Amino acid sequence: MDGFQEAKERAKTLREAIEHHNYRYYVLDAPEISDAEYDELLHELIELEERYPALVSADSPSMRVGAAPAESFAQVTHRTKMLSLSDAFSLQELSAFLARVGKGLDLNQEEIDYVCELKVDGTAISLTYEGGLLTNAATRGDGQVGEDVTLNVKTIRSVPLRLRLDEPPPLLEVRGEAYISLEQFTGINKEREAAGESLFANPRNAAAGSLRQLDPVVTAARELDSIFYGIGYAEGVSFESHFQVLNFLRQAGFKTSPFAKRFKGAAKVEAFCNGWQEKRASLPYEIDGVVVKVDSLKQQARLGNTSRSPRWAVAFKFPAEQRTTNVLDIEVSVGRTGALTPVAILEPVLIAGSTVGRATLHNEDEMRRKDVRIGDSVIVQKAGDVIPEIVASIISKRSGAERIFEMPKECPVCGSRAIRPSGEAVRRCTNITCPAQRIEHLLHFASRSAMDIDGLGPAVAEELLAKEIIEDIADLYFLSKADFEEIEHFKEKAARNLKAAIERSKERPFSRLLYGLGIRHVGSHISDVLTENFRSIDDLATADFEALTAVEEIGPAVAESVISFFTEEHNIKVIEKLKAAGLSLKVEEKGGQVMPLKGQTFVLTGALDGLTREDAGERIKALGGRVSSSVSEKTDYLVVGSEPGSKFEKAKELGVKILNEGEFVKLIGG
Ligand code: IVH
Repeated sequence: MDGFQEAKERAKTLREAIEHHNYRYYVLDAPEISDAEYDELLHELIELEERYPALVSADSPSMRVGAAPAESFAQVTHRTKMLSLSDAFSLQELSAFLARVGKGLDLNQEEIDYVCELKVDGTAISLTYEGGLLTNAATRGDGQVGEDVTLNVKTIRSVPLRLRLDEPPPLLEVRGEAYISLEQFTGINKEREAAGESLFANPRNAAAGSLRQLDPVVTAARELDSIFYGIGYAEGVSFESHFQVLNFLRQAGFKTSPFAKRFKGAAKVEAFCNGWQEKRASLPYEIDGVVVKVDSLKQQARLGNTSRSPRWAVAFKFPAEQRTTNVLDIEVSVGRTGALTPVAILEPVLIAGSTVGRATLHNEDEMRRKDVRIGDSVIVQKAGDVIPEIVASIISKRSGAERIFEMPKECPVCGSRAIRPSGEAVRRCTNITCPAQRIEHLLHFASRSAMDIDGLGPAVAEELLAKEIIEDIADLYFLSKADFEEIEHFKEKAARNLKAAIERSKERPFSRLLYGLGIRHVGSHISDVLTENFRSIDDLATADFEALTAVEEIGPAVAESVISFFTEEHNIKVIEKLKAAGLSLKVEEKGGQVMPLKGQTFVLTGALDGLTREDAGERIKALGGRVSSSVSEKTDYLVVGSEPGSKFEKAKELGVKILNEGEFVKLIGG
């Protein structure tokens, strides 16, 4: 036998062994060999494949280690829409759901089988297996089209690269959740803190962020896990019940919830939901509720779906978790616009899966209304991805030593006067060159919805400004190699990534740059409106009050703010530097492209079936039209989805042309 043939056989043996031990360890949680022995097998395989590249196959366990970074994510159309779930926020809402099911099926509760599963709080994934091999993995996206994250999903050890079935179905699309354990979550955040990077707010964000990494090596290091709960599409297999689906998935090698249970009738379902509310803290991962599903697939089909979610399933959401803790201090933070915000520094408590050490008190009035004092015992609550908040102070626990906090009359960062104009809730620092404002301003410029400069977090921003490596946002585009080297927080790779992200940001549309400039009252939507009407920064800079307020949605406050921005000499200098750096600062008209909707104003209301409101808006804008948030005489079209709001009535009153989804899709060219 020649060397290659021998290697081929050895590789096969190794692969089978590795996948077997992988499954024992990551899916069954019952390993048969030590970690070191496992690593030895894997290394032998990797060496063999390096020596004989022809041996590498898509399902090789070596592929989990992490492939080369991608440029961007390709789009994947799901074979069937990935629906979401409607929520039940209380036991009453849950029993209303169960009653609707009973009515819809015309059955008594005791005649209906339900399956209850835990709702693991991660991010949804859809995996395609062709002939038993994992060929694609995608995020949910808008439900119809997701992003191709195959290389990243392959790094999840509990995901089978090949189905463990003798006769796998020719095509199978399975649905599940990628998530991060609480332990892993805490570890990642510790590392990020040490590296001066921004922290993930909760395990769900950490999972979603890790899955959407262009570099699979980063995903691999995050050690995601997975759990599967359904089939989106299958050829060659069929089922009668959801419980059967779960069993099939388990046999095929997927991790499914060990806590899934099948019950008859409402009472047991309610008891299951109630029970897990108490027990949730005992799990090593975060759950945010219980999913209740009708078991029979025939009955599911009879009940059907709305455009967004099935009528045969519901997510029972646990109520907001509350904890008691102490207010150690009250600090004041200074935001981008110079706003002074009181923040309660808390004795850290773990609530709903994340450690809470601070809670905003919003402003002076809010702090007084809740009567929060330094030294108080307070009730803190957090629900899902909501920012933690102080519900109330516990007055009965006061000893008398508590102190009322007075907002400072000077900015805590630069010492300038901080004034609160009459009629406003917010006190502001009056110094526009205040360092705190500059950091926040820089972070805003780099944020996702502005210039999307990944890697420019608080620590880096602070260092760039403190060491005077940059003075303003435009200087980012003139950083030298030596400048990057000076950033202490950075290893070489991080510096390279930041440099690339800055370079990429030059391609961001004008409206995102305008938003990034941080002009007061010019938020994301107003930036769109302004750039639709003033196609370049020069047009905008020279527009007077009348020209600005002539635009729908632009009121006097925005107009004044825009004008005052462009009269500030410092701002003009920054803009000139941005131009010199090669940023275009105007709307790029796509050459030769037809703009059939030019000058037409659209308003959207209700849920669309085939596309999200954001996508619909993007399409309209791409064709030259504009999107407004309210119906008026100037509205040309109202696009109406299901369950439209009051805009529908208003449009009828004003005689605005109304389009249903089908008509709209036709108009925008399908
Ligand atoms: S069923 C058609 N079951 O919850 C039914 N979803 O809004 C669609 N999730 O992000 C979902 N655990 O990934 C279902 N046992 C479970 C689930 C579950 C978590 C997630 C799902 C999606 C969200 C649904």
